[in-house]
Amino acid sequence: MLTIKTKSEIAQMQKACTITEKTLLLLRDMVEVGITTEALDKEARRFIESFGAVPSFLNYNGYPKSVCISVNEQVVHGIPDGYKLRDGDIVSCDVGANIDGYHGDAARTFIVGNASEEAKKLVQVTRESFFHGIEFAKVGNRISDISKAIQAHAEQYGYGVVRDLIGHGVGTRLHEKPDIPNYYVPRMGLGVRLVEGMTLAIEPMINMGTFAVNILKNGWTVVSADNSLSAHYENTIAITDGEPIILTMQLEDA
Ligand code: MF3
Ligand code: CO
Repeated sequence: MLTIKTKSEIAQMQKACTITEKTLLLLRDMVEVGITTEALDKEARRFIESFGAVPSFLNYNGYPKSVCISVNEQVVHGIPDGYKLRDGDIVSCDVGANIDGYHGDAARTFIVGNASEEAKKLVQVTRESFFHGIEFAKVGNRISDISKAIQAHAEQYGYGVVRDLIGHGVGTRLHEKPDIPNYYVPRMGLGVRLVEGMTLAIEPMINMGTFAVNILKNGWTVVSADNSLSAHYENTIAITDGEPIILTMQLEDA
């Protein structure tokens, strides 16, 4: 399902996206050495529900928690548990909120205490790759233009662009069409053109080493195949007749 939203639908969707953004800001402020990922999840859930919203991921395809918290070599879909964050960890928090019929979806990778320069670089380049991508998030361009820009930025540092998971449309459902790979896929035809009113979750997942990934025995958690560090950065955006609106980054440039 690919849905085009009117301006007023996007304005409605802003509410879910702002709750999502506020939750990430809360998580950022809570992340510190010794806190468990379970404690972060619990607080995020309480916070989202305090707005009358519902955590988008809770029970989604059986996912048991409200936030995906992926530490170090974990790429995405880390399940919060008793793990205590350690100095030097990088921790990706991916969260969604559902209210008034719409979802917001966004992720950030936070640094715990003093991380290595190379870890900080990975986190920074992953974030930058999102912004290079959305330079092409304009009417008339194609999804593949966004994909190529993300890939080109990450690969110039020798990083691996994860292939097995991709960005997506988002709206009344968490996952809608179109697919938004973070790498260029030559295929028949030239791919979907961007039109005003698309709302998209663009989410580069970048590994320090190989792009290949494995899934842990819990059936969810995706890890880099070589156990190299991995970072994630995601916003929900809206395509307009001009610049895209970053719906999950209205309060702070985080
Ligand atoms: N943010 C993830 C995505 O973009 C959703 C997590 S999947 C869930 O696809 F099952 F954990 F919800
Ligand atoms: Co997403």
